[in-house]
Amino acid sequence: MATDSKLVRDIESLLEVAKGYDAEQADKRTRLDLIARLDALREELDDPVEKMFSQITNYSQTAAVNALLQLKVFHHVPREGSIAAKELAQIVNVDLEVLTRLMRILTATNIFRSVAEDTYAHTKFSLVYIDDVATDFLTLCVDEVAPAAYRLPEYMSTHDSSGILNPRTSPFAWHNDREGKNFYECLLEWPERLNRFNIAMTTQEAALPVLGMFPFSTLPASIDTSDPERAFIVDVAGGRGQSLLQITREIEESGVTGIGKAVLQDRERVLDAIPADALPGVEKVSIDFFTPQPIKNAHIYYLRRIMHNWQDREAIVILSHIADAMAPDSRLLIGEMVVPEVPKTGYAGLDMTVYWMDMCMLVIGGKERSEKEFKAILDAAGLRLLYGIMEMDISIRIFESLKLILSKTKPAVPIVRPNALESSPFYKLPPELICIITDNLPLESVGSLSLSCRPFYSLLKTKYQPSVKEVEYLVMQRFLYLLVRDLPAHIVCPKCNKLHYMLLADRHLASPLYSRPSKRLSECRLADLSGHYIGGIPAGFSSTIFRMAMKAHRQGDYSTANSLVDHLSYRKMDKLMLGFVGLHKTEARIYHGSLYVREQKVYMVPASQKIPLPWYGGFGICSHIPLTGISQLYWYDIHIPKADEIDGYENKQGILYCQYCHTEFSVDFKSYGKAGNAVFITQWIDFGKGQEEDDYKRRSRLGGITRWKKVAYQRGSICAAFEMKEYAEFKCDSTLTEQDEKELCTGCYWPWPGDTSPWPHDLSVLDKADKRGYVVRNGRLIPQF
Ligand SMILES: C[S@@+](CC[C@H](N)C(=O)[O-])C[C@H]1O[C@@H](n2cnc3c(N)ncnc32)[C@H](O)[C@@H]1O
Ligand SMILES: [Zn+2]
Ligand SMILES: [Zn+2]
Repeated sequence: MATDSKLVRDIESLLEVAKGYDAEQADKRTRLDLIARLDALREELDDPVEKMFSQITNYSQTAAVNALLQLKVFHHVPREGSIAAKELAQIVNVDLEVLTRLMRILTATNIFRSVAEDTYAHTKFSLVYIDDVATDFLTLCVDEVAPAAYRLPEYMSTHDSSGILNPRTSPFAWHNDREGKNFYECLLEWPERLNRFNIAMTTQEAALPVLGMFPFSTLPASIDTSDPERAFIVDVAGGRGQSLLQITREIEESGVTGIGKAVLQDRERVLDAIPADALPGVEKVSIDFFTPQPIKNAHIYYLRRIMHNWQDREAIVILSHIADAMAPDSRLLIGEMVVPEVPKTGYAGLDMTVYWMDMCMLVIGGKERSEKEFKAILDAAGLRLLYGIMEMDISIRIFESLKLILSKTKPAVPIVRPNALESSPFYKLPPELICIITDNLPLESVGSLSLSCRPFYSLLKTKYQPSVKEVEYLVMQRFLYLLVRDLPAHIVCPKCNKLHYMLLADRHLASPLYSRPSKRLSECRLADLSGHYIGGIPAGFSSTIFRMAMKAHRQGDYSTANSLVDHLSYRKMDKLMLGFVGLHKTEARIYHGSLYVREQKVYMVPASQKIPLPWYGGFGICSHIPLTGISQLYWYDIHIPKADEIDGYENKQGILYCQYCHTEFSVDFKSYGKAGNAVFITQWIDFGKGQEEDDYKRRSRLGGITRWKKVAYQRGSICAAFEMKEYAEFKCDSTLTEQDEKELCTGCYWPWPGDTSPWPHDLSVLDKADKRGYVVRNGRLIPQF
């Protein structure tokens, strides 16, 4: 008998702690710490294999709870006394054996108590399922999140790792067959599930209290609330006003008046569902937080439980819009759980909520963050985290992981900047002399010197700053290029003549999702649009995001580069074009330091049409081969088989290429039997390295170049690079997913039953009548005029 074994010593030390533990008085922290000690003891006795199998115990218990809740078994076990299995089975109308087997796992894990053979009684652990509203949240997680979570291995083997970081391709969206929609957009499709979600949300109050975290009622005394136009608080995406109601009540009860407006913002549909008199004194404003914040200069912007629903990319956009609206003394309060940064030490107990919540978020496309991660997204939005303020207001009951994050007012921790003066010979010069020297330097150099440290800034700003603002285009551009060398996350935009920030790449997205209708389009966006119009810039492409991706790539930050490159892909299925279906897809890839893009347009034409071409459409290959209409395929001597020749048709022309820019293309046909005949117009583009400001590879696609210059490259090399093959080999339908083919094969009709109208364009006439402008020889288009 080992009376001084580790186990015995640990139990003795635990006993000491237990003697000091007052169950009545103890707060959550102390209780969790004690549990951590008990767990440590248990660990000494645990067998690793048994511990592994406790995973199965966990899920069996969850499944049994969920099934028994649905059968209302919890409600039919009497609160006092007990009930026999047989009687219970009759009441809930379920097979006796099934009931006893489901109950078995719950009595074994002490959720229910078995008082005699097959006789059950409640415990405090079973009663909680009836008495606590949190049950709604539990079942929501089990029904909505867990099924997708269990399929993570399958999800990961069918998606690359960036898929999970995009809320539109989350495991939840995939599991529900809704890829392309974010979590909230999915829910909007299912009113009952949405309703259940909203109810479950209101039950999560205890996990993140509103009051006691920030001095809402004493703040008005320390700020200037005299401007009646200035809102006091804006609850951004505040749901049904659950937080604002508590905050305004607390302020009112403290006797403070005349503080200014309280504004509740959310989607229109959410606000409309709030009864008219439910929120006295609160102004409702419907918003989309991906567009500019309409209420400017409020004293407080409040964001509770929003950040964790989104990945960094979206979170930064939301924060940036608020930052844009903030006055220098506005505050942004973020109420979220915070993932502890340091690994657990000693017997510090852990509250598991934030960990399983993060797992839920992983599935639905959001993210719980550590303080460091919050700092990074705030930083990216131009906001600064203030320390110290919330700690003092956090009661232990809320446990340490809860934080409010305040911004844009004075930082509590001074930011340490290197003092350039100390490391430079300039240090020794008197200021007068520095001024004489700088008078002889180009303005852009003085500008960047003045930003190198505070003393230089103070010395030089009055003299040079006004002129830096008014300088001509080229001086400003040289200044920006000097700055950008030390700014890894910025690029110089030659069109806007400004710096653009990689973490706000969303602002340059070509997709309508993030477009800001109220703002004028930037110069670079306009240039892309005109390039798109003439066919040189593929759909969904942004030259600015391209340049950002290439910079990240050159810096070795491949994950940023890849996620930026992902922004360049595009897919659109058009079924509205009378009679035929069109699919439009773009994909991009960095290969050997250059960006390559493949853009493909696929048109499915009804099998009844002799010529397998849509009657309408422009397929612009590049600014030199505009292909503005179908008939132009004949003009460019591109071979088009008749419908009955397509089966087994071989494209003898192969890959064609432009002699004036880095673009190759191929026109292919494929028969889908009765579903129709498809024409594939595939093009590959080499955009180059995106480094030089005046790079011909890119410029040649934007239009506006009057002189065409011949470029030399080996036929097929661009296709081979994109497809990552040694030779250009490409099967036109290899890009189509099952979904693409399904959508292409349905929805293609002509004419309507009973309609006798002819196909709008008689292409067989065009075939004969059209003069050919070019002949194709070895992939080259040789003009005949
Ligand atoms: C998790 S709830 C948080 C609600 C509230 N702040 C709270 O703490 O209880 C997220 C809220 O974001 C809103 N929301 C989702 N997408 C939005 C968008 N694009 N613009 C504005 N609100 C949005 C939803 O309607 C929902 O009320
Ligand atoms: Zn720009
Ligand atoms: Zn061209």
